[in-house]
Amino acid sequence: MSETMTLRRAATPIVPALIVLGFFVWFSNWIPQTRWEPPKTRAIGAQMTPVELARVGAVLTRERGCLACHTVEPGVGVKGQGRGPNLDGVAARRAKGVPGGASDLAGYLAQSLYEPGAYLVEGYANIMPASPRPPAKLTYEETTAVVDYLMSLGGTPAVKVGDLPRPPAEAGRAPSAPAAPAAAGVADASALLDKHNCLTCHAFKVGEDRPGPPLALASLRENASARGKDLGSYLIESIVQPRAYVAGNFPPDLMPEDYGAQLTAGELYTIVSYLASSEPKP
Ligand code: HEC
Ligand code: HEC
Repeated sequence: MSETMTLRRAATPIVPALIVLGFFVWFSNWIPQTRWEPPKTRAIGAQMTPVELARVGAVLTRERGCLACHTVEPGVGVKGQGRGPNLDGVAARRAKGVPGGASDLAGYLAQSLYEPGAYLVEGYANIMPASPRPPAKLTYEETTAVVDYLMSLGGTPAVKVGDLPRPPAEAGRAPSAPAAPAAAGVADASALLDKHNCLTCHAFKVGEDRPGPPLALASLRENASARGKDLGSYLIESIVQPRAYVAGNFPPDLMPEDYGAQLTAGELYTIVSYLASSEPKP
């Protein structure tokens, strides 16, 4: 028997075990927030250099669930295999920030962690939890370390503790509502609702017999405030994470859970701004 054969034999049982382990690591990042144990905070000294911080940031990115959505894969551009953008080269492509948002790399990276919904990378939905919130729960110091790590992906780590802005008070809360939804065509919105079968379960008017709640502005507003969110954030959550909050006596597990993956960020905005508008609906 050749030596490689023996090695292969020996390795086989390990592979499924790794896959199972990988699944649990992945899955544990997805357990609803209430069951998430607060992650251990890492000691980060004010005197650490950006390069030292970047090293801690690399570990945090792995430990705090970022890689459940993101890949760090060289040479494939923004679109990787993940639910979020490929982070390799992020420092190079965002060296000057983004149009309409922060105009420098560190500012943009901090914003993309504090308020992921403030600027949506094209083609992606607003599903990223703000990093001060569960599951990541990054402290200010940890955020600095993660930003340094991200700066090292196609650039040079350059921030020290104290350089970044503090998270805005809002950042601990829900993803922000669409900043300025492109005047969404009513026709586009109707076509999307049709295409995704929303209207087989929802009516616009109260009193029609459907398995889901009516998408009437008054009741949506009421539910949003009961949930403690502004209307835009509430609608995004209801569509992308329908199990997060169930309004009234409706079946809690009927609405498909994968709209976040099916809809692009642009489509989601089109739907949300249509539902939130006071235009008369059919
Ligand atoms: C539930 C999935 C998910 C998780 C978890 C997640 N992200 Fe994201 N992230 C996304 C998506 C989707 C986008 C693109 C939409 C947007 O801009 O918000 C994004 C955008 C980003 C961007 C901007 C990328 C660019 O090309 O401009 C950065 C940086 C980032 N995430 C870092 C992180 C870090 C660091 C963590 C862990 C603390 C994390 N993300 C956790 C889904 C996720
Ligand atoms: C198979 C049936 C079904 C489909 C298809 C469906 N939904 Fe739902 N939806 C429900 C049910 C049931 C609820 C109430 C329980 C819950 O919150 O998950 C709900 C809740 C909602 C809510 C919260 C309503 C409130 O009053 O608080 C919104 C908004 C919503 N859906 C929008 C949509 C959109 C937009 C689509 C299409 C992209 C869609 N739904 C597709 C069944 C469905």
